[in-house]
Amino acid sequence: MKTYNIAVMGGDGTGPEVTVEAVKVLKTAASKCGFKVNLTDFDFGGERYKRTGETLPDSAIEEFRKFDAILLGAIGHPDVKPGILEKGILLKARFALDQYINLRPVRLYPGVECPLKDKGPKEIDYVVVRENSGDAYTGTGGITLKGTPNEVAVQSMVYNRFQVDRCLKYAFEYARKNGKKARGVGSENTLGLVGKTNVLTFVYDLWERAFHEMGQKEYPDIRRDYYHVDATCMWMVKSPEWFDVLVTGNLFGDIITDLGAITQGGMGIAAGGNINPNGVSMFEPIGGSAPKYTGMGVINPLAAICAAQMMLETLGEETAAKKIDTAVRFVTANKMKSMAAGKMGFSTSQVGDLVAAEVAK
Ligand code: IPM
Ligand code: MN
Repeated sequence: MKTYNIAVMGGDGTGPEVTVEAVKVLKTAASKCGFKVNLTDFDFGGERYKRTGETLPDSAIEEFRKFDAILLGAIGHPDVKPGILEKGILLKARFALDQYINLRPVRLYPGVECPLKDKGPKEIDYVVVRENSGDAYTGTGGITLKGTPNEVAVQSMVYNRFQVDRCLKYAFEYARKNGKKARGVGSENTLGLVGKTNVLTFVYDLWERAFHEMGQKEYPDIRRDYYHVDATCMWMVKSPEWFDVLVTGNLFGDIITDLGAITQGGMGIAAGGNINPNGVSMFEPIGGSAPKYTGMGVINPLAAICAAQMMLETLGEETAAKKIDTAVRFVTANKMKSMAAGKMGFSTSQVGDLVAAEVAK
């Protein structure tokens, strides 16, 4: 029987609670669809950092390389200065394992309350391909004359052609396979580049040239659009139905996907995948560690469950992934009162049970 070795890093706050539910659903899907998941827990996170001073050691990265995928809960601890765990664990894993794609679907599930007027699941159904290895995240820059009135701080937006091309290739392929035409909900597959070519005339000029060159040569079947990032924020609220697959740099991708998440019902439901198409990928709910809800059994586990769903899709277990998607849709449409912590009408583990029961049918 096919067996997948999965590293599970529950992390901080409510991370471990939601991860338990994701694992529950994962195991149910596996036994239903005829494969096995072999899980190994890792305790990296704020508590371990406080005890040992260790974030994510190089030895853990080497260990992770042996797995088929990583499931992450959340990183962020109220007693630890912001940046230490985020950089030391989350960004370290993304960079060291070269997870150069951050795939973030913006999908409103049936029955989920949407803050946008007159928009439903049909209108809010697109995917952001966020480049995950470059940009202002590379740490290029520095501070001089620190503490003086003339202090200078520089943090550069850095991209090379190789990074841009590999990300665009992934995005075009993704659009061809999963775009609105491919899914039978539209008349064409569209890839939209989100940039800022009117001001960032170096970095997004590179992106724009690479985008049209690759599109013209290799993907003439895919419609190409371009949007400035500020306008994108406006259209994400006003006309999200315009979008199919969007591709953008790391920083813009970070920002617009939080906006996307709130339009799909909030952090309780938004999931993402840090993908290395040729290596080990890591899947996570994109909400944080929600310290104030820790241990109360009230946090929404659906984002973590959807992260597990994306993991199966990426591993090629499409039937199992589809089953989880259908189950989540059933539960949001027919069972849950709200996506918000404490207002779901069910506890964290009950929501996990509801989804697992549907998957098992
Ligand atoms: C995200 C987060 C991270 C990021 C932080 C926690 C480093 O906001 O996954 O979107 O900026 O990528
Ligand atoms: Mn973010």
